[in-house]
Amino acid sequence: MRMRPLTRHMNKHLIPVHMRPMIEYALSTLLGLGIREILVVTGRGHLGSVVEVLGSGRDYGRSVELTYKVQDDAMGIAHALGLAERFAGGRRVVAILADNLHDDESIAPVVHAWSRAEPAHAMNFLTRVEDPREYGVATVADDRVVEIVEKPEVPASDLAVTGLYLYPPDVFDKIRELEVSERGEFEVTDLNNAYIREDRLRFHVVERWFDAGEPGPWMATQRYVESHPERFPEKRFRLRED
Ligand code: G1P
Repeated sequence: MRMRPLTRHMNKHLIPVHMRPMIEYALSTLLGLGIREILVVTGRGHLGSVVEVLGSGRDYGRSVELTYKVQDDAMGIAHALGLAERFAGGRRVVAILADNLHDDESIAPVVHAWSRAEPAHAMNFLTRVEDPREYGVATVADDRVVEIVEKPEVPASDLAVTGLYLYPPDVFDKIRELEVSERGEFEVTDLNNAYIREDRLRFHVVERWFDAGEPGPWMATQRYVESHPERFPEKRFRLRED
């Protein structure tokens, strides 16, 4: 685990980023989209403290409902998403990684347009980074993502795939078809590539995206939030009620 030794005694997603547990930033993205039914998938370690912090969800808005599910072993993001099948109940899903901070106004209109369209396409949010080697890296041609490579040694572009994903209802069938990767996980990148092969992956490029999941990027995230308090008012962490 890359945030050791802190994560020996606490869940990584509860490590603070400027006075808030980092998970609240990802949560704020969902709340800003008006999403109120949220499934939190977490590993066995320190699950109790995640519940202690987030509770039922009522602190984030009257109609916010949090549900919890345990991923026993770290089998990857796609596997974690697979645990949401019953929760999704045949609807499309928005998935977000709890160590990601998206601070970009262009996201909401894109998600809302997607949610009103036929539920056929998946969507990835890309961003330009200096060193893409730690991320899924997208190759884009003719306005389409043609391939995503997970943590390439020699990246084909500077477009990293951020941890916000939109999927149509058939995502769970696609997850069942995935094979385990070399690092022993069901990769979200393989899932996205499955949609690319069917020409069903759309993308949107965002500007202000931060990764708080590793020491260096965590520091940068911390500095960004500290120096832009106006972008993180209290109301951002409450459901945007329609
Ligand atoms: C994961 C994904 C990667 C994505 C990144 C975003 O990486 O596998 O494609 O770019 O999240 O934060 P991981 O956190 O598993 O290293």
